[in-house]
Amino acid sequence: FNNFQFEEDLLNWYYENKRDLPWRRSHDPYKVWVSEIMLQQTKVDTVIPYFHRFMERFPTVYDLAKAEEQDVLKAWEGLGYYSRAKNLQAAVKEVVATYNGKVPDDAKELESLKGVGPYTKGAILSIAYNQPVPAVDGNVMRVFSRVLKIEDDIALAKSKKQMEKYLEELISKDDPSSYNQAIMDLGATICTPKSPACLVCPVAEHCRAFQDGVQEVLPIKSKA
Ligand code: ADE
Repeated sequence: FNNFQFEEDLLNWYYENKRDLPWRRSHDPYKVWVSEIMLQQTKVDTVIPYFHRFMERFPTVYDLAKAEEQDVLKAWEGLGYYSRAKNLQAAVKEVVATYNGKVPDDAKELESLKGVGPYTKGAILSIAYNQPVPAVDGNVMRVFSRVLKIEDDIALAKSKKQMEKYLEELISKDDPSSYNQAIMDLGATICTPKSPACLVCPVAEHCRAFQDGVQEVLPIKSKA
């Protein structure tokens, strides 16, 4: 596995093919944060109109911090998993109270915020602040289980921890923001759960699962 070539092929594909998504039009850490929370249990197409409306109503951390909770929940209505919205507002209040309204660019500070786990922390640090930190969700687990032909059960927490360790090494140090988003796009559009489109995949030549014809067998997942 040639990581240098992999990164180059992945990033070149992304620069040519990246999806034009509203939260990609800036690197505002607040926008990145809101989008990543919305995207955690909800598909991109569903999130887009909610994201636009949310940003119109609560354009900055200050607007969200001072809003009535019922107005925040109203803006979230239909997205479900309302604890996401409650935690987000609690965390944003903390950002205003403790960090002068600046979303932290420090891993420990971010992880101390309500609702911010390893994934959201990695997404904010990489996408908004361009720090080389992985953001491992189910899509990333699937893509790299295939690329690296990892046969661990992705339902296990230790498999995710192991993957985070691998990716700390592999992630682009030149453009970690694009790198993580490239993996997200690859997982959404090409390296799909069923019938992955390996024939048009920009990194098929680096993919150990594809080389061995086991792309439909991986990842291994013990529970739904
Ligand atoms: N899924 C989760 N985060 C995403 C992002 N930033 N862009 C596209 N899809 C995503």
